[in-house]
Amino acid sequence: MRKFMTAALATAMILPAGLAVAGGPEDIAKARIGYYRLLGLEMDGLAAMAKGEIDYDAEAAKGHAANLSVLTQYSPKGLFAPGTSNADLPGQTRALPVIWENMAAMGEKGAAFRSAVAELAAVAGDGREALGPAVGKLGGTCKACHDDFRAKDY
Ligand code: HEC
Repeated sequence: MRKFMTAALATAMILPAGLAVAGGPEDIAKARIGYYRLLGLEMDGLAAMAKGEIDYDAEAAKGHAANLSVLTQYSPKGLFAPGTSNADLPGQTRALPVIWENMAAMGEKGAAFRSAVAELAAVAGDGREALGPAVGKLGGTCKACHDDFRAKDY
């Protein structure tokens, strides 16, 4: 018992106070938005190259693709905990309640996104000509999910 108390006390001292409230619906929505912002940042870099707004750079393109690939390894399941839609948290998220009504359809959009990332990663280093169509296809998978599952505004 004494040993347990000591361990519990030690844990309480290591964890910063803020962590005690992490994991509530607001925190989950914030983490979800952060995840999608990471996708957006990587995509912005690729789209700028594909459109010729910045010079094509094979290493940079491969870097963005590699980061996107890593993000496809992350399971977003926990980010879609019940009670975190824009009906539950008005003004804090754009996630539509239909996500929770049709998780399977949402999962299909996610699968299309993941395979488009894999296709992009395979050609990202092969020049702007190769990058363009792959970025276009990936962007289409982002849009397809947003059209159905994301509100236009907060
Ligand atoms: C399977 C569905 C799905 C796919 C695929 C998807 N998104 Fe989203 N995205 C969402 C949802 C849902 C939200 C709203 C999240 C929220 O507000 O809680 C969102 C939000 C965003 C946001 C806004 C974050 C903010 O600040 O409000 C960005 C940026 C974004 N997505 C970029 C992308 C990009 C880029 C891709 C493709 C590379 C992509 N998403 C693919 C569902 C998806």
